Amino acid sequence: MKILMVCLGNICRSPLAEGILQNKALKAGLNWQVDSAGTNGYHTGEPPHHLSIKVAKLNGIDICEQRSRKFTGADFGEYDIIYAMAADVIDDMKRIAKTDFDTNKVSLFLDESLPGEERDVPDPWYGGEEGYHEVFEIINNNCDSIIKKYTK
Ligand code: 4NP
Repeated sequence: MKILMVCLGNICRSPLAEGILQNKALKAGLNWQVDSAGTNGYHTGEPPHHLSIKVAKLNGIDICEQRSRKFTGADFGEYDIIYAMAADVIDDMKRIAKTDFDTNKVSLFLDESLPGEERDVPDPWYGGEEGYHEVFEIINNNCDSIIKKYTK
């Protein structure tokens, strides 16, 4: 299965989601390929934010080899599941992918564990280190829910 995590910059939230889910999938013996992309393309070619790298590393996950890339409509041909970190990201994906947008492949990431509740992963880009720890916890818990769902 091929899974794509999408946020705005592809430097804070989705690189963590990629690293955490890929790590858990490997441990669970699932043959998954997890990638990530961003809708704004502002940071194309850059590694993840230093605080995302730091918080991942503190939790035993290495994400420093990742490079930011822009989401494209062609991703709908490549991936089985596309998780958006927030509702505004889905709006951007629709604008970018146009007729390639496939509702059946897209889910709000937190719908896997918090259906009907606050469903956007907060964007830590505008705050300090604490926000990155908070976001790690949120993403980590949700990745556990995803693994549980597919290993039942
Ligand atoms: P991310 O956070 O979407 O979680 O990677 C952001 C990073 C950069 C920007 C916005 C959000 N930016 O506008 O540059």
